[in-house]
Amino acid sequence: FDYVQKPFEIEEMEVKIEKALELRRMRNELDYLRHTQNDIYEFDRIVGSSGALAKVLGVVRKVAKSNTTVLIRGETGTGKELIAGAIHHNSLRASRNFVRVNCAALQENLLESELFGHEKGAFTGADKQRIGRFEQADGGSLFLDEVGDMSPSTQAKILRVLQEHEFERLGGTRTLKVDVRMIAATNRNLAGMVAAGSFREDLYYRLNVVSIDMPPLRERKDDIPALADFFVRRFCGELKKRMDGIHPDALKLLLRYNWPGNIRELENAIERAVLLTEGSHITADDLRLGEVVTSGDGEGPALVKIPPTGIALEEIEKRALIEALKMSNWVQKDAAELLSISPRVINYKIKTLGIEFPRSRRYVPVAEN
Ligand SMILES: Nc1ncnc2c1ncn2[C@@H]1O[C@H](COP(=O)(O)OP(=O)(O)OP(=O)(O)O)[C@@H](O)[C@H]1O
Ligand SMILES: [Mg+2]
Repeated sequence: FDYVQKPFEIEEMEVKIEKALELRRMRNELDYLRHTQNDIYEFDRIVGSSGALAKVLGVVRKVAKSNTTVLIRGETGTGKELIAGAIHHNSLRASRNFVRVNCAALQENLLESELFGHEKGAFTGADKQRIGRFEQADGGSLFLDEVGDMSPSTQAKILRVLQEHEFERLGGTRTLKVDVRMIAATNRNLAGMVAAGSFREDLYYRLNVVSIDMPPLRERKDDIPALADFFVRRFCGELKKRMDGIHPDALKLLLRYNWPGNIRELENAIERAVLLTEGSHITADDLRLGEVVTSGDGEGPALVKIPPTGIALEEIEKRALIEALKMSNWVQKDAAELLSISPRVINYKIKTLGIEFPRSRRYVPVAEN
């Protein structure tokens, strides 16, 4: 607070009181905002009790309190951002900022100006000085999302911050020091990118001090009922609907599906179903899972389109298999389940129909385990 000289003006006093009150309001507001933000990342908001998720949360608890850099790997929609937030909000830095940057969303120059800020006149269009995300995150954590999508120049600058804790704003000469904990995430194979020469090896080791692998939803189907329930309640609340839950047949469908888009896809599917459902339960019909079906006339939609010139049944079979494999992220066991055939039969068909796997997805006969 402030002091006043003995013979004081009433106006002067009023201004000072007003300022003090304003400061208190802002402090309260900040307190409140921080509190609500913490809420989002409390562990009990992370739904699921599968062993796979418990393992992830165990690592989160262990690393949260340290300043270690963490690399979170996993397919799209598996909860990488949620986990990054949980690490920050359970760390000693929780009262400071958690700042996120999506490295894939911006071109090299824009991304660097976003991260490091720029001085006025650094480039055409830079008509004001700008504070970068590293400065905003000082004392807190910076979440580098899609970290595999950075240019070599940006990679070098990030490495310098990790090693020396310093950088310059674009177009600036002053070296700035920051204390930032970095958490990175990627759905790409960074080790493979290092081998291919598109990601710096030294940066990879710096980021990957501790790594967390987010399990895809199809590998923790035990979590589906609880997650589905959680999303039903959330969207009922948001859409002001009353609903008793999910019909057992619909739940069966949710459990059978392979969720290539993981939890985000489940979340979207439930939102759509809650919106469409008129009864008290979500039924199998309300769920339009992975709608691949194209043209449809008359009764049901057509599953295949036969060209007027004709097509070999074998070719249709091959395409159906490839479609199912893609939907299952090339896990044969899951694709077999989608097509109601046994793992042995799918192995056989993959071989005889000459289906080729993408280079990153090794063909592993399922009979092994
Ligand atoms: N265990 C969980 N409990 C509740 N909600 C979850 C859980 N995991 C993920 N979600 C929700 O699923 C959605 C996707 O999660 P998130 O954005 O963290 O995934 P991501 O791995 O970062 O995806 P992308 O690679 O597409 O960016 C979010 O709305 C998130 O809140
Ligand atoms: Mg994300």
